[in-house]
Amino acid sequence: MTLPLAPSGLAVVHLVGAGPGDPDLLTVKALRLIQSAHVVVYDRLVGEGILALVSADAERICAGKQSGHHPLPQDEINALLIRLARPGRRVVRLKGGDPFIFGRGGEEAEALRAHGITVEVVPGITAAAGCAAMAGIPLTHRDAAQSLRLLTGHLREDHDLELDWGRLADPACTLVVYMGVGTAGLMARGLIGAGLSPQTPVAVIERGTTAAQRTCFGVLEHLEADVERWQILPPALIIIGKVVDLAPRCAG
Ligand SMILES: C[S@@+](CC[C@H](N)C(=O)[O-])C[C@H]1O[C@@H](n2cnc3c(N)ncnc32)[C@H](O)[C@@H]1O
Repeated sequence: MTLPLAPSGLAVVHLVGAGPGDPDLLTVKALRLIQSAHVVVYDRLVGEGILALVSADAERICAGKQSGHHPLPQDEINALLIRLARPGRRVVRLKGGDPFIFGRGGEEAEALRAHGITVEVVPGITAAAGCAAMAGIPLTHRDAAQSLRLLTGHLREDHDLELDWGRLADPACTLVVYMGVGTAGLMARGLIGAGLSPQTPVAVIERGTTAAQRTCFGVLEHLEADVERWQILPPALIIIGKVVDLAPRCAG
């Protein structure tokens, strides 16, 4: 099925979530858009399996980003999208996971709208949901966690992690840390210092939902040493909380 183009005169950019890696986790809408795109601007997190589904006629532009290494700074990505958007052209900005969860989709949408460009956001399965499902970890559970928090472990310009440890150290809340492998020790010390049990179960999921997924289990007090010992490769996600103990240990 082909998608209708926006009414003439209207420039549109589709901010599309590609999910955490497995192409089968794309939404039907995301698939339709990438199959009928004229231009696809994609992130490093978008893998080959998904890029293989992009229309062969589409122009592909990699705006890949990795912590500490930014081939295209965010303002240049914004400027590129603004330049590409024009009436009659289907521009897809394809992002790993969900565009509005640690994906800088909010900034891109703001910049585009400020230039009169219409933005359509297509949600994707965020890494927390995809990785937890594949590892068999229910993120909430009546007996183990009544709430869920998604955090970033990424340091802004070498500042300390500016997190409210007192509020995060809640044994009834599951914490999912994105971009947190490099700061796992800071995270563990902050949480234990604020009263969370050092024995709180932890899982680290590497390349979740792909054929190369690896899931490692431990406890909070050993997280820093374990991450080093396991030699975790990006992208990886950390799940902290009692729900981790509900996973089948053969997962991953
Ligand atoms: C810039 S954030 C993008 C998050 C994305 N927008 C989402 O909703 O999942 C990148 C971080 O997401 C996490 N991540 C994304 N895909 C992952 C995967 N397949 N397995 C494990 N972690 C993943 C990692 O923590 C990675 O450092």
